Amino acid sequence: MNDALTTFAPPRSPMPTDTPAAHIIAITSGKGGVGKTFVSANLAAALTRRGHRVLVLDADLGLANLDVVLNLHPKITLHDVFTGKAQLDDAVIPAPGGFSVILAGSGMIEYSRLTPEVRSEFLNVIHTLAPRYDVVILDTGAGISDVVLFSISMAPEVLIVATPEPTSLTDAYAAIKVLSSQQKRQHVRMVVNQTARAGDGRAITSQLQQVLDRFVTTESGKPVRLIHMGDIPADPSVRDAVMRRQLLLQQMPGCPAALAIAQLAGKVESTLLTPAA
Ligand SMILES: Nc1ncnc2c1ncn2[C@@H]1O[C@H](COP(=O)(O)OP(=O)(O)O)[C@@H](O)[C@H]1O
Ligand SMILES: [Mg+2]
Repeated sequence: MNDALTTFAPPRSPMPTDTPAAHIIAITSGKGGVGKTFVSANLAAALTRRGHRVLVLDADLGLANLDVVLNLHPKITLHDVFTGKAQLDDAVIPAPGGFSVILAGSGMIEYSRLTPEVRSEFLNVIHTLAPRYDVVILDTGAGISDVVLFSISMAPEVLIVATPEPTSLTDAYAAIKVLSSQQKRQHVRMVVNQTARAGDGRAITSQLQQVLDRFVTTESGKPVRLIHMGDIPADPSVRDAVMRRQLLLQQMPGCPAALAIAQLAGKVESTLLTPAA
C-alpha cells in the first residue's frame, strides 16, 4: 500500500490548480454539538438571500444531521454516490432556504476510515460541483480524525465554531493546532456560538490567540492567526426551530441568533466573497 495514500499530507494549496474558484468553506469544531450544522444551514440561507448560489455538503459522515435540521427525506444521498448506486447530480436536492444540499445519509458511518476510495469520492464530488456554485459549505464532523481533517483540507477557508465553554475552547485549540501544523494554515476563522453577552466572542478569541501565540508556530515562523468573524448569542429560538425542523432564518428572522447569522453572512461576503479591489 502506498503510504502517501493513507497518510494525511495535504498540499500547501488544498485544491489542485485546475479546480474552479468556488469559495469552499469548511465549518468545523473541536467538540461536537456546538452548532456547526445550525450555522451551516442558516448561513447558507443568509448567503442565498444575498444572491449567492450556495451548496451545503453534509460532510459529517459519522453524525450527519443536516437532513434532520432541514426536515428533508432524501431518496438519494452521498452514500449512494459513494457506492455507485446513483449519479452525483441526483443527490443534489433543494433545501428550504433556497440553497442546494447533498445529504450524507445513514450508512456513511462505514466511511469513518479514510481510505483512498473515500478521498477520491470526496474530491470528485467537490471538483464536479464547485464550478456550479458561488459558495460551497462543508458541514464537517468535529475533532481531528483523518476523515474530518481530510474534508477540511478540501476547503481553502476554515470556520471554527466554538462555544464559550472551557471544553469547547480546549478542543478548538487542539483542532487549530493540528490545522496549523498538518495543513500549514496561516489563519483560521472563528465564530463563537451561544454567547451570553455581547463582546464575549471577541474576548474569547483573543484569549485563544494568546495561547496560540505562545505554543503554536506556523511554518512561516509566525503564529497562526485567528480571525474573529462574529458571535451568535444563546437564544431559545434556535432550539425551538430545531424542534420544529425549520430554518431559524425562516421561522424567526428577527430573533437575536438569526440577526447574528445575517451579520455573519455579511462578514463572510465582505471578507471572502468580494474580490479584493
Ligand atoms: N445559538 C444557540 N442558542 C441556543 N441553542 C443553540 C445555539 N446553537 C446551537 N444550539 C443548540 O445546539 C444543538 C446542536 O447544534 P448542531 O448544529 O446540531 O451542532 P453540531 O452540528 O456542531 O453537532 C442544536 O440542536 C441547538 O439546540
Ligand atoms: Mg452537525
